Amino acid sequence: MKDLASLIGNKKKFLILGCGFSGSFFAETIRKLGCTALTSSRSENKDPNSFIFNSESGMVPDGKIFDGVTHILSCIPPDKNGKDPVLKCLLSELKSLPLEWIGYLSTTGVYGNTEGNWVTEKNKPNPYQKRSHNRLNCEKEWLESGLPIQIFRLPGIYGPGRSTFEAIKNQKIRVISKKDQVFSRIHVADIANAIIYILQNKDSLKFYQIINIADDEPCSQIEVIQYCYDLLGLKMPKPILFEDAKKELSPIAQSFWTENRRVSNKLLCETLGYKLIYKNYKLGLKSCFLNI
Ligand SMILES: NC(=O)c1ccc[n+]([C@@H]2O[C@H](COP(=O)([O-])OP(=O)(O)OC[C@H]3O[C@@H](n4cnc5c(N)ncnc54)[C@H](OP(=O)(O)O)[C@@H]3O)[C@@H](O)[C@H]2O)c1
Repeated sequence: MKDLASLIGNKKKFLILGCGFSGSFFAETIRKLGCTALTSSRSENKDPNSFIFNSESGMVPDGKIFDGVTHILSCIPPDKNGKDPVLKCLLSELKSLPLEWIGYLSTTGVYGNTEGNWVTEKNKPNPYQKRSHNRLNCEKEWLESGLPIQIFRLPGIYGPGRSTFEAIKNQKIRVISKKDQVFSRIHVADIANAIIYILQNKDSLKFYQIINIADDEPCSQIEVIQYCYDLLGLKMPKPILFEDAKKELSPIAQSFWTENRRVSNKLLCETLGYKLIYKNYKLGLKSCFLNI
């Protein structure tokens, strides 16, 4: 990949708000490309590039953290009242900055259940779960904020340290079968790289405010689990029918099985020309396997 700092200018400074799984991968990736990136965390830590932001306890960053910031990526989910934590606490601070771009990581949950059909950014959101209504509300808040916002809708995120391999190792795996049920996924490296690709080509690409980042091949969870067991050289446990497994699942785990959709990446990969690093779960999981 080309040097991002040289492509978007050397004086660019990123704030990554919510430096969990995707946020830390993004921060590491852009630093390797020569950019400055400061990251937020809800608790104190030893990282000199980290600062505290916790909307629940009202701990907001010191004003000097924002000095010279040009780009922000927010990876923070809605709060329990369905409000966006960043906009609730930092809107006026953000409005006072000469920001060039803000990215917001959202979810494809806003599309609701399409009974296995493909969804694109043109589909009207139809959230079903309360958390997806909250998410759509946050998207709306960002879109109405007057800030230079770009929203990325993501399906299930996996990558090194957070994949089916960890679930198998920690004995958290449940092999459940439900007829015709599929899930879409994305490797964390493709989230970071797709966003960087869009920033690198900002001047030549049409600007879309909402973009799905998903891989090419939605599929059943059993196919994914079977593939991991095969790589590990272990025998997969016998699948349990969803109807039988349901009573043992937590409400949140159950809720994932009530929605069935295939998330299209045509806008990102065909219209905008991004080339996925991991086109499907096999390629993505193979790379996770080589790192366990
Ligand atoms: N995981 C998935 O499969 C998936 C799928 C689609 C979309 N998403 C969404 O995409 C985004 C990134 O996902 P992820 O899995 O990478 O996230 P993650 O690892 O759960 O990280 C979320 C980050 O948000 C911070 N945070 C949470 N509540 C906060 C608050 N009230 N104030 C300040 N910071 C707060 C956390 O801080 P600490 O670091 O201090 O914990 C953490 O750094 C999230 O919004 C997530 O809901 C996730």
